[in-house]
Amino acid sequence: MYTLLPAHQIALRVAELGRTIGEAYRGKPLTILGVLNGSVIMVADLMRSIEVPHRIGFVHASSYAGKTTESGSLSVGLNLMPDIEGRDVLLVDDIFDTGKTLVRLLDELRTYRPASIRTAVLLWKQGRSVVETTPDYFGFQIPNAFVVGYGLDYDDDYRHLPNIAVLEQCDLD
Ligand code: IMP
Ligand code: MG
Repeated sequence: MYTLLPAHQIALRVAELGRTIGEAYRGKPLTILGVLNGSVIMVADLMRSIEVPHRIGFVHASSYAGKTTESGSLSVGLNLMPDIEGRDVLLVDDIFDTGKTLVRLLDELRTYRPASIRTAVLLWKQGRSVVETTPDYFGFQIPNAFVVGYGLDYDDDYRHLPNIAVLEQCDLD
């Protein structure tokens, strides 16, 4: 395991993203929707640098069934979601990999008639997307490696790491 992005670099970039997002949503009814579980740290950091009033809520999506680094079937849960009708929604996730999770969530959320929906992710993994959509806001483009930390897990571990680290084959054995 080795560090790809140290904590201080993540902090600087997330603060910068927050300022950009705050300016874009000035005077608008912003609701941030975090995708559980991976986005919790990103949402907590991001919201503190968005200097316009906004609400938060969460939706659930899990694409990895258990101890694997390959996409399994996707399950989505919207039972924790606040009312988003007429609101400007920013959907926040930890990483954009194949893009399937965000596209599926965007489709579902549109049926609740928000005024607008954009997406923000900390990481955008390159060379993996299978969808037309791209994230509206992203922290870092990263190479195609399996990463953990800052909310991202492997088999539900490592989410607490303050940095983003690459898991190597020897870590998985
Ligand atoms: P997508 O649907 O393929 O874009 O996958 C998005 C979801 O897969 C994210 O919310 C993560 O939970 C998970 N994921 C994708 N790549 C990684 C990774 O490198 N480390 C940990 N989780 C990942
Ligand atoms: Mg996730």
